[in-house]
Amino acid sequence: MRDFQKIKSMSDFRQTDPPILVDGISQPTLPPLHSQMILRMLVRPKYGDFRIPNELSWLESQIRKAAALDANLTGIKDSWCYVTVRHGPTVSKTDDEWHFDGASFRTGLIPERNYIWVSHTGPQYKTGEIEWPEDFDPTKHNLFTYASRALTDADIQTAPSGRWMMMTPFCLHRRDPATNGAYRTFIRISFPDIEGRDINNTHNPLLPTPFFGRDPVKNFRNHLEDYQCKERR
Ligand SMILES: [Fe+2]
Repeated sequence: MRDFQKIKSMSDFRQTDPPILVDGISQPTLPPLHSQMILRMLVRPKYGDFRIPNELSWLESQIRKAAALDANLTGIKDSWCYVTVRHGPTVSKTDDEWHFDGASFRTGLIPERNYIWVSHTGPQYKTGEIEWPEDFDPTKHNLFTYASRALTDADIQTAPSGRWMMMTPFCLHRRDPATNGAYRTFIRISFPDIEGRDINNTHNPLLPTPFFGRDPVKNFRNHLEDYQCKERR
């Protein structure tokens, strides 16, 4: 098991993690709505209590249980808590490409924890060892494309559906591209150590409206370059 109290570094990415199945979080009773889309809604500030709005009441007990389990597992009591729900036709774009969740290196961070549940067709992942070049700089180079190329030949493994699992930032995964357009429910309860100041987050009506001018995908991720070997430069 990873040390979740240690600031993550490139050396943590030398070995990728499988998702870790967790017991103790009950099965969610899905909302009787055709679709519900909630993107990284803040439900608990780092030093505060849960503020769970009506639209997430169906998931409240699972959110609270995940927080209790996470504190137990990591020894970290105070974390931000964000919830993503994609319930309905699958329209999300970039999550069917190989990536890590919470792998940002913009500032020194302990690894975030993501508790995930899907109604069918579990996420795909790859495990293996990755050798990173000395001069690989995750604030300049794209970690995702490098890792996915490094593990091109690794078997694609499939995580179960209908089970809660925890993903570390070192789990290389993607949504099964076969789910494009399919009716499906994806739930993610995240515990990062930093506030997600992202203009795209769904606002929690029980919390003050934040003022964020930042769009991390446009301002940061789209500017990363693919790492090129020196010989090819
Ligand atoms: Fe992901």
